Amino acid sequence: MDAPRNRADSTAPHIRVFATGGTIAGVAGSATRRDYRPGQIGIDDFLAALARLGIDTPIRGTQFANIGSEDIGPALWARLHWAAMDALAQDSCRGIIITHGTDTAEETAFLLDQTLPTNKPVVVVGAMRAADAVGTDGLRNFVNAVRVAGDADAPGRGVLLVMSDRIFAARDARKAHTEMTDAFKGFPRGPVGHVTPTSLEWFGPAWRAGEAARYAFHDDMPAVPILYAYAGMSVDGITQALAGGAKGIVLAGFGHGNAPRAIRDALAQAVEQGVPVVRSSRVDEGLVDREPEDDIANFIAARALGPARARILLQLLLANGITDPTRVQEEFSRR
Ligand code: SIN
Repeated sequence: MDAPRNRADSTAPHIRVFATGGTIAGVAGSATRRDYRPGQIGIDDFLAALARLGIDTPIRGTQFANIGSEDIGPALWARLHWAAMDALAQDSCRGIIITHGTDTAEETAFLLDQTLPTNKPVVVVGAMRAADAVGTDGLRNFVNAVRVAGDADAPGRGVLLVMSDRIFAARDARKAHTEMTDAFKGFPRGPVGHVTPTSLEWFGPAWRAGEAARYAFHDDMPAVPILYAYAGMSVDGITQALAGGAKGIVLAGFGHGNAPRAIRDALAQAVEQGVPVVRSSRVDEGLVDREPEDDIANFIAARALGPARARILLQLLLANGITDPTRVQEEFSRR
């Protein structure tokens, strides 16, 4: 449903906002107690706040959902993807902003990054403090996102994630803190730009200018569980994953994507049964590169992608018929 107060003329240049909820639309309830609820404030109220700040950028807001991002998954991804495709096809749409809870923003941003063309900016934005919390960051992040989405140099950078005055490429971004307002980090690139309500600086040229979508979006994504490695890990998780119909497995391994011998053997058997296995790391930062055992077992190294984004990429590849481990590795190695 469009937000009527903010329905800019659809034929004149404007920015589309798809609001999904999260803390950016949440209420704290109390300054001193944890009485927090995500997804309480509608897009109308948000855009009215922009107007009060004197920001007159034409915006068309659509309330897609108003939920915590822990409940966002394939159904909403499909709606967002197809709505974004429609909006991007309109000459008058300069760019898209998606307001989103920060918990799964990494996954939504990366999925759209891989399945949308890059000729117009798509910006995912969230907040760590609810709209009525002491020192809320939501409105500032949103104003920054409007600046990025409307910027002439924003196209050709893939989907972007704006938080705490920083712009991250979706390929690099992940949530790295449970509470702080600068909760996101980028790896291997840090932020690709800096933005405030009054300034915007890109740290380099657009790196994907004019690129088409990398992979076709499929409403039905294959089942790909993430197995989290822990000391004393048993093979039960692998057995259950295969019995449950897993089409691929992502290992969130120790250190450089490692796991106990019995786990590596069970994963090698899964590969023999036609289930690709990606080795990523439960460690926050660093590459997982190919090792000699990968050539023997046909494992795939996640490179710079953490488990959540590695899972999305493996789902996309499988959905697009790319199953051969060598081809899958090539796609994981692609920047
Ligand atoms: C959520 O992801 O919906 C809650 C947490 C947040 O937005 O920061």
